[in-house]
Amino acid sequence: VALRPIVFFRREDGAVVALEDRCPHRFAPPSLGRLVGDHVQCGYHGLEFDVEGRCAKNPHGPCLDRMQVRAFPTVERYDLIWVWPGDPAGADPDRIPDLSHLYCDGRRTRFQHLEADYRYDILVDNLMDLSHTGYLHRESAGGPAQERATTIRDEGDVVVVEDVNLRQPPPSAFGPDGPLTDIRVITRWHPGNVIPFDAESVPSGEPLGAGHHLRFTHICTPSTASGTHYFFSLTRDADDDEAGDGASDEYQRGVVVDEDSPMLSAINRVMAGRELMDMQPVLLPTDRAGLRVRRAIDRLIAAEQRAGVDDERVRI
Ligand code: FES
Ligand SMILES: [Fe+2]
Repeated sequence: VALRPIVFFRREDGAVVALEDRCPHRFAPPSLGRLVGDHVQCGYHGLEFDVEGRCAKNPHGPCLDRMQVRAFPTVERYDLIWVWPGDPAGADPDRIPDLSHLYCDGRRTRFQHLEADYRYDILVDNLMDLSHTGYLHRESAGGPAQERATTIRDEGDVVVVEDVNLRQPPPSAFGPDGPLTDIRVITRWHPGNVIPFDAESVPSGEPLGAGHHLRFTHICTPSTASGTHYFFSLTRDADDDEAGDGASDEYQRGVVVDEDSPMLSAINRVMAGRELMDMQPVLLPTDRAGLRVRRAIDRLIAAEQRAGVDDERVRI
C-alpha cells in the first residue's frame, strides 16, 4: 500500500492490525510467518511482534527497542479496511468519506478489485473526466450524448463534478429508458482517491430526480510506483435481487477491465513514470476537474509536509 509493504491480521477479538511487512532482522516479510495469539511471528528466525509492532518475544535473546516494525492506524468501516500510512498523530477516522450508500436498506452492492498496472493518478484523471464515456465506453454506455454540461465545485477538500448528458443512446446498465436518455452523474473526489458516482437516467425530456439510480464507487489506492489497487463497486436499488449479481459484476468488470484498463495501461507505458504536467499535455476544457484534484492533492501533501512529516512521500 503506497509503496509500503503491510501485513494485515486480525487480533483474537477480531480487530484488524496493520504492521510493516519487513522484519528488522533480515527483512523477511512477517506475512510469511504465522500468528501466535495476537502476535505475528516472523517465519524466518521467530521474532514475534505485538499489535503495536514492538518485539514481544525473541527466542535468541532479549527484546531490544530496535527490534520493531511500524504499526499503521486502521479502521474497519463499510467492510473496508482504512489504513493511515502517514504520521500516526494525523490519523482521523472522521475524515473517512461517507459511503453509507454501500450498505443501506433497499440497496445491494457488489465489490470487485483489480491489481491495475497503471499509476493511480492516471486512473483518477479517467474517473474525473467522463467525456471519455462516449468513446472508450461506446459499447457499454451507448455512445456520445448530443449535449453535455459540466459544473465543478469544491466542498472543503472534496471536488464535486456534476455532468448532465442530454439525448444519449441508452447505456445497457440502466435498463430500457427509450431510444434516448438523459443522464446525470454526480462525482465526488475525496482525499485518499475515494470517488463515488451517483448516476441517474431518465427517458430524454423527463425531469431528473426520480429516474433509475446506480451508484458506482471507486477507490484508487496506490500500491507500487506504477500500480494501483483499484476497488470498484456497483450499488443498485434492489436489495433482494441476488439473481442480478452476476450481470452486475459482469457489466462493471467489462467497463473497467475490458474498456478502461487497456487504455490506461497503454498510457502508463508511454508516460513511463513521468509527471503529467512535465510532459506538457494539450489541455481540454474537460480536464478541469482532474486538474483541480491534482491541485488538491498537492495542497494536502504540502500541508502534511509543513506539519513536519519527514517520511518518504508518495502522492496519495
Ligand atoms: S528475518 Fe525475521 S527473525 Fe530473522
Ligand atoms: Fe472509464
